[in-house]
Amino acid sequence: MTLRILVLGGGVIGLSCAFELRRRGFAVTVLEQGKCGGQASGAAAGMLAPYSENVEQPDPFFRLCLQSLALYPEWQRAVKETSGLDFEYSETGSLYVMYHEADVQAMQSRRLWQDEHGARSELLGAAELRRLEPHVAPEAIGALRYPGESHVYAPGYVKALEQACRRSGVDIRDGLERADAVRWQDGAEVRSAAGETFRGDALLVANGAWAGLMEAQFGMAIPIYPIRGQICAYETPDMPVRHMVFCSQGYVVGKRNGTLVCGASEDIAGFETSVTRRGIERLTSWNGKLFPFLSGMTPFHEWAGLRPATHDGFPLLGRALGSDSLLFAAGHYRNGILLSPVTAHVIADLLEGRNASGLPLEPFSPERFGVNP
Ligand code: FAD
Ligand code: GLY
Repeated sequence: MTLRILVLGGGVIGLSCAFELRRRGFAVTVLEQGKCGGQASGAAAGMLAPYSENVEQPDPFFRLCLQSLALYPEWQRAVKETSGLDFEYSETGSLYVMYHEADVQAMQSRRLWQDEHGARSELLGAAELRRLEPHVAPEAIGALRYPGESHVYAPGYVKALEQACRRSGVDIRDGLERADAVRWQDGAEVRSAAGETFRGDALLVANGAWAGLMEAQFGMAIPIYPIRGQICAYETPDMPVRHMVFCSQGYVVGKRNGTLVCGASEDIAGFETSVTRRGIERLTSWNGKLFPFLSGMTPFHEWAGLRPATHDGFPLLGRALGSDSLLFAAGHYRNGILLSPVTAHVIADLLEGRNASGLPLEPFSPERFGVNP
């Protein structure tokens, strides 16, 4: 019998899970309150950068990120083939720029453990850095290079995912205003703001920063909250930046469409997705210090999105409340674009009754923050 899965949320996580579940023969309905990809996923810089963005230790989150990066070549091909839409996937590698001799030691200790996990990092001096990125600031003394990191154009990726879902037979119900879970034991039921009821065999909660609002509905602790990221882009038709370039204050990514995306702030502003002068000026000031040619330029586009943060920095992945009918895939914070393929595989495996990834999933248990008695 074909199992029917309701996916709550049409961001990159909900759509990726829907796409993979459909590929494996499930009947899938995505329930989206607004527009698919209209929140954090469409706002992202699209970096697939597990080494640059995990600099402390090889914890389970880092391992999850690595496994997802390895899935990307096949995954993005499948999304393109099924959707018939192309989107940028660039294997540019990245550079983490240093300004002080004191930074070199920190980079060395990072390399020690990251190279054991496939980073293939290279410590570059000033001359080599300038050969690779001629426009970087003269104050930069070197960089750590990660050749295996890549990036996608996030709005294009999410649009193609949505189209891949539609073309493969996923039922996408968007513009629902809001959808609430009303049953998740022995089957699932969700009701929209207009009173429409959707029924399935299981419910996957994949509604990003909004998942924390469902604590009372489910009677369990869901410490997911929005962290706003403000970000901007410059028009640079003769793309002067070749890699993803990080510094301690932010990052710069050149896209194939001639835009240079520069991010991103972190602040708490509830569910507000506007930008502030202060937030954008902080970015533009740092952009100029990294690439002086940006000092005289004004971003042509400024926007913000809400990262779904959790208290311990790990997403919630897996079954909850002792029910076969309730699963979570939410709280991917700064890495949801990177983590989309592995999340889709983990969730589809669980619904098929296995854990093919071989990853320990306990650290991601949705119930780890507590369940109301
Ligand atoms: P979302 O994309 O927010 O989707 C959740 C969806 O659920 C929304 O469409 C919402 O409308 C819907 N929803 C909410 N409540 C309900 C409800 N009750 N009923 C129905 N629908 C509901 N990650 C990377 O890997 N690389 C990057 O370079 C990167 N850069 C980023 C830059 C910025 C500025 C920001 C803000 C984020 C960035 N991220 C990046 C993080 C990434 O964007 C997120 O981790 C990811 O998009 C989360 O995806 P999601 O599907 O969980 O959430
Ligand atoms: N991963 C980049 C960001 O969240 O800004």
